[in-house]
Amino acid sequence: MLRRPRRNRQSAAIRDMVQENTLSVKDLIYPMFVMEGQNVRSEVKSMPGIARFSLDLLLEEIQECVDLGIQAIALFPNLPEERKDKYATESQNPQGLYLHAVSEIKSRFPELALMTDVAMDPYSSDGHDGIVHEGPNGIEILNDETLEVLGNMAVAQARAGADIVGPSDMMDGRVGYIRERLDAEGFKKTGIMAYSAKYASAFYGPFRDALDSAPRFGDKKTYQMNPANSREALIEAELDLAEGADFLMVKPALAYLDIIKLLSDNFDLPIAAYNVSGEYAMIKAAAQNGWLDGQRAMLEAVTAMKRAGAKVILTYFAKEIATLNK
Ligand code: PBG
Repeated sequence: MLRRPRRNRQSAAIRDMVQENTLSVKDLIYPMFVMEGQNVRSEVKSMPGIARFSLDLLLEEIQECVDLGIQAIALFPNLPEERKDKYATESQNPQGLYLHAVSEIKSRFPELALMTDVAMDPYSSDGHDGIVHEGPNGIEILNDETLEVLGNMAVAQARAGADIVGPSDMMDGRVGYIRERLDAEGFKKTGIMAYSAKYASAFYGPFRDALDSAPRFGDKKTYQMNPANSREALIEAELDLAEGADFLMVKPALAYLDIIKLLSDNFDLPIAAYNVSGEYAMIKAAAQNGWLDGQRAMLEAVTAMKRAGAKVILTYFAKEIATLNK
């Protein structure tokens, strides 16, 4: 045999030398949850190790993350029901939980890359990402009317100190609309990470528990993509690129590695992957049952996202990975 691939696997030193992909904490964005109150740390039951924090404790938690080498976080708000309404009005309240948290975080951690979420669901009494309209033919999620809300949110978040806004809503035309609104208000440097190929997925369940944001009726299939499709991801990505996105994201990640690869083969913008709540919960649950080695499964899954072509990975494992690397 002339070719013996095992020669390159015979020792740790050689294996390390030929290793093609390496995870770095610098690739990771840590999604975090903020809630009202003081001195509150509220575990998300379906996400062992992940909690919602009141702002005071969140700032301490971020300090810990920064000390571990984490350089980027994505923030999501958990709002009490009474602050939610049909038009997500609270999303534009500069004194409200979210925008206040964003400005506090930015002033305490100016070096941190702070990403915000642009979508109505955490603030929506309907639990949808857009405005719900009950027309003669049933329930509809209005597209163009929602853009205005999203534009207002993005501008308010940029004003509060967001470095990157992340439209996770899947309305048509939102990246271009948000880009124009940001530029018009002088926020030319605020980046946009487009949730480009975001699928209508069962893997968002634990996140919706964390935010109490599950749709009150219906599902998200008229705006999020059909999990059976891949060519459609190219259309979404092309539009987001043309509309001024700075990153293209695929979400979820683990069941969509082919989509990550597809976008990374076809587009030169940095590709991001969102290793979502349900993917985190699966590994944690199996590990807690002793059914697999949680740490190895975590590293294998997240490395696979990188191998598929993701430059940036949003993952609830970020802190754990950073701790391992310390
Ligand atoms: C909604 C949003 C969702 C997530 C991020 N933003 C859920 C949804 O679309 O219902 C899910 C993230 C996760 O599961 O970790 N704008």
